[in-house]
Amino acid sequence: MYFPVARPRRLRSSATMRRLVRENYLRVDDLIYPIFVTCGRDVQEPIESMPGIYRLSIDRLLAEVALVQSLGIPGILLFGIPDSKDAVGSGAYADDGIIQQTVSIVKDKYPDLLVITDVCLCEYTDHGHCGVVQEGKVLNDPTLELLARTAVSHARSGADIIAPSDMMDGRVRAIRESLDSAGFTDTPIMSYSVKYASAFYGPFREAAGSAPQFGDRKSYQMDPPNIREALREVEQDIAEGADMLIVKPAMAYLDVVASVRENFDGPLAVYNVSGEYAMLKAAAQLGWIDERKTTLELLTGMKRAGADIIITYHALDVVRWLNEEV
Ligand code: PBG
Repeated sequence: MYFPVARPRRLRSSATMRRLVRENYLRVDDLIYPIFVTCGRDVQEPIESMPGIYRLSIDRLLAEVALVQSLGIPGILLFGIPDSKDAVGSGAYADDGIIQQTVSIVKDKYPDLLVITDVCLCEYTDHGHCGVVQEGKVLNDPTLELLARTAVSHARSGADIIAPSDMMDGRVRAIRESLDSAGFTDTPIMSYSVKYASAFYGPFREAAGSAPQFGDRKSYQMDPPNIREALREVEQDIAEGADMLIVKPAMAYLDVVASVRENFDGPLAVYNVSGEYAMLKAAAQLGWIDERKTTLELLTGMKRAGADIIITYHALDVVRWLNEEV
């Protein structure tokens, strides 16, 4: 009679045994909740392809932030939808811009909540690109100054962490230098170091009205088949002074997360983007998958791949589910 020497099943025999040998956990401390803020009062517009997510005016956003705070989620990531756009995205760096107003009100009411601001021009430009455009081209260096101005104005309104998502070369350094000279030496940069030109941003662009009016973002966001290039982006951002890094999107890029993890010891975030959220919600609404189980499995997979932090539209649901589990 042959007996297997190794019997991995021994350690799977009961829920308590599995709990004892579990290697990775999803925790409320890992989560960041993205929120879209829009102008006006008493606005709560549903985003069709993102059930449960809304464009909120500042007054409504405060109620949402109260919920985030009561659930113990450490931070929010803010995206602004301005009421007017122009060629150079001046709403992004206006002292009374939508983000600047929101940050100062939120920080005033909730000083302990981490307010992270997305620094980019695409929500503020009439052409929808993330930088200054000339003859159909997105110009790198002239964009840096505008991004740096945006970052400083966010810090001035009280932002705790600056998250540049534009993918221009050298922006981390430009932002770091401007923050430092403006006296914000202690404001960290969480850089979207590895951001792919992904089709999974579709629902976000609908939400933020930020789809490019011509062409695409492939000349600045990364080409999805590449991974070695991701490590070069990471190296560069660390050298330029990034404190934390983001890989985005999540689901199709967990190999990239694992690889960045091996090459970077600092805090690593993954962005579980709008299209990923939409897919799960749609399948769940059709009754084709179990939303709770699939979402928790996916996000735990992001932790297992090496992410410390998960930026996700599922954050509120996840915390409720985690609280039910114990
Ligand atoms: C701004 C930005 C985008 C996202 C985050 N910041 C859109 C884009 O790059 O087109 C996408 C987030 C999501 O899909 O949830 N540049």
